[in-house]
Amino acid sequence: MKDLTPAKADLDPIEIASRDEIEALQLERLKWSLRHAYDNVPMYRKRFDEKGVHPDDLHTLADLAKFPFTVKNDLRDNYPFGLFAVPREQISRIHASSGTTGKATVVGYTHGDLDVFGDMVARSLRASGVRPGEMVHNAYGYGLFTGGLGAHIGIERLGATVVPVSGGMTPRQVTLIEDFKPHAIMVTPSYLLNILEEFHRQGLDPRDSSLQVGIFGAEPWTNAMRHEVEQAFDMHAVDIYGLSEIMGPGVANECVETKDGLHVWEDHFYPEIIDPETGEPVADGEMGELVFTTLTKEGMPMIRYRTRDLTRLLPGTARSMRRMEKVTGRSDDMIILRGVNVFPTQVEEQLMATDGLAPHFQIELFRDGRMDAMRVHVEALPDTADEASKSACADALAQRIKSIVGISTEIMVADPGGVARSEGKAKRVVDNRPKER
Ligand code: DLL
Repeated sequence: MKDLTPAKADLDPIEIASRDEIEALQLERLKWSLRHAYDNVPMYRKRFDEKGVHPDDLHTLADLAKFPFTVKNDLRDNYPFGLFAVPREQISRIHASSGTTGKATVVGYTHGDLDVFGDMVARSLRASGVRPGEMVHNAYGYGLFTGGLGAHIGIERLGATVVPVSGGMTPRQVTLIEDFKPHAIMVTPSYLLNILEEFHRQGLDPRDSSLQVGIFGAEPWTNAMRHEVEQAFDMHAVDIYGLSEIMGPGVANECVETKDGLHVWEDHFYPEIIDPETGEPVADGEMGELVFTTLTKEGMPMIRYRTRDLTRLLPGTARSMRRMEKVTGRSDDMIILRGVNVFPTQVEEQLMATDGLAPHFQIELFRDGRMDAMRVHVEALPDTADEASKSACADALAQRIKSIVGISTEIMVADPGGVARSEGKAKRVVDNRPKER
């Protein structure tokens, strides 16, 4: 793989500024953001007043802990535009979550917010090793989801060439990569696996493709998966993180030269880690729930938004901005099985370490008598699809999950192609347990 480390001179000066400088900027911006939210969004005014705090009470960054949290339901309760801090006419763009349960959550951006969005995705691309003039195949879904259009503005902002493919039509994805020869691909890691298969189906060696780097996010993925993808394509694989409520892709990104967690673009997004039970902030280095406060967002400021994503904050390395460790999972996706907490990423790690199995999986939860139980659906590779090999692979994976994760699971090894494929975010857990009343 080629060394894609960006030149220091190409970075935004703040990315490598001193911590003092970064924190001074954060404090100034945080004061503005709290004031902006309080003055213009009735929900924040009410919440702050109820808690007896006022934007003027913030003297240090640590004072932020006095302010109330915001949660996903607050967006639903204020559906559609109740959290906008500017008149609707000043909103240039709207995105929304699909809202599989309940109402969609709607977010809005001013022209200025879109500028920041473009800048942060451009910074993320640069950290990933993409340079102006290069070509980026963008397979994140276009539409209300922030992935496609968010990546798009950043690619253009960097001065690179965007190929706005969106998700789906997998054979065409491969054709376009073969014909246009992009340097980079932006896509969910699960959909990349689908594209990888299509390369093989067309008799092409993905290691011969033009791709030098893949920028993967929108769902959790492991270092084991990174290794698999880097080998398969002979390209770098870096992690991009974000969420619509805070902006979209590009809230944090890994640096291609270190790949040691995602630098949070702290000049625009202030991260905290809290104990999800007590809501108290924990020290850097400790695991907990990631909370973000926007520092410059005009259209829809977010104060202490609880992401439900579990990770920890680590000091800067390739940049002065702090890193967040690869997300283990969302607290909503945590499976509690006979008292043991399990995340789909732990299953992914063990699957990757088991020979003979393809990297696709889905977890099914069901009721076995009075106990909850877990079944993992995986599939054989073409040369291990005979019954004896399948059974040996199932035993090997069950053993690994038992000894390393600590739970007993049933493993179902399907023939190649037997596990549902993703074209965007993969659905990792299917819950077939009877609903409690
Ligand atoms: O998924 C934004 C995005 C698009 C990020 C493309 C990266 C690339 P939402 O649909 O609002 O926004 O979903 C946000 O997805 O809270 C995490 O649970 C999860 N997520 C996003 N990026 C990562 C990542 C976009 N790199 C939710 N690793 C977040 C793990 C991620 N989980």
